[in-house]
Amino acid sequence: MTILVTGGAGYIGSHTCVELLNKGYDIIVADNFSNSHPESLKRAAELTGRLFRVVQLDLQDKCQVEELFSENEIESVIHFAAFKAVGESMKNPLKYYQNNLAGTMVLLEAMDRFNVKKLVFSSSATVYGKEADIPIAEKEEIGAANPYGRTKQMIEEMLNDLFQSDPKWSIAVLRYFNPIGAHKSGRIGEDPSGIPNNLLPYIAQVAIGRRDQLIIHGDDYETKDGTGIRDYIHVVDLAKGHLKALEKISYTPIYETYNLGTGKGYSVLEVVEAFQRACGRPIPYTIGTRRAGDSAVCYADATKAKNELNWAAAIEIDEMCEDIWRWQQQNPEGYASVEETAGVKEATGA
Ligand code: UD1
Repeated sequence: MTILVTGGAGYIGSHTCVELLNKGYDIIVADNFSNSHPESLKRAAELTGRLFRVVQLDLQDKCQVEELFSENEIESVIHFAAFKAVGESMKNPLKYYQNNLAGTMVLLEAMDRFNVKKLVFSSSATVYGKEADIPIAEKEEIGAANPYGRTKQMIEEMLNDLFQSDPKWSIAVLRYFNPIGAHKSGRIGEDPSGIPNNLLPYIAQVAIGRRDQLIIHGDDYETKDGTGIRDYIHVVDLAKGHLKALEKISYTPIYETYNLGTGKGYSVLEVVEAFQRACGRPIPYTIGTRRAGDSAVCYADATKAKNELNWAAAIEIDEMCEDIWRWQQQNPEGYASVEETAGVKEATGA
């Protein structure tokens, strides 16, 4: 039984591959490496002592996707592959609709045709509207505020329609809160291209000296210290949630949505303090203006995943920061310094 992992070379994908391999699953990774590096897969293979197939393809390439399904005994799919930068999606929405929606449609058509109807879909807490009650439960109305979020929302709707049309489909939609952290080994982690948009990669680059200071996007929110509050979840906890979802969809056909978060909120200043404890250095920062589109507070009600998937996040904020710091120190330039492509061949053994 083989699990197809689309976008498996990315940040969450590579950590999920490690957990799948450690649990004995056979996997195939399909990735176009547009925003990821084959080195992450080479390292996933090293960490687990397992070999697996890696296919470089774009999901929009119907022929290649069909070939993938015809040549392999795929049982289920975990679908990560997508563009994910909110700001870029606002500047170039068509790029996001084209890639995220068209790629998913080709994938779903191939799954349907080859009778592979078990899917774990990578969604985001971004789909919730700004008016959602905190902590946010799955039953809250969705209403994404940007094109990236809307691609996730539209795919969720597409998947629901599919399930209604044919209940042999079995689908778990996972809405992630704020994934951070890195594998304990320091071998795989988040490797943003360009200037990081997200808080933790930015702080880590300040700590290592790649950037001068953090700009905190507003300290005039109605929160305990005025800075924004988020639900930061360790990427390995998140990866384990995918395995629980995979088990769940395998027993009996379902369409269910689960929040994957810790249920706890930390402010930007609290995160800066936690990171300072982890790296033993001061993180210089200044207070800037609010970032457009940001909400004051966002954290999960994660009880549904606990009750139905028997999953709960276990790793606390200090350990999340320690793991990021280890990854950042061991890989100050991310995967960039590593030679291209050698990884794919070694990881696949092909
Ligand atoms: C962002 C995305 C969300 C995505 C998530 C992935 C937006 C509006 N949302 O969420 O769609 O799923 O990342 O992790 O971009 N902050 C600073 N300075 C910085 C960066 C961030 O003060 O340089 C603050 C933000 O204002 C926010 C908190 O840190 O209060 C977290 O920000 P970020 O890591 O970008 O995540 P989100 O905005 O929650």
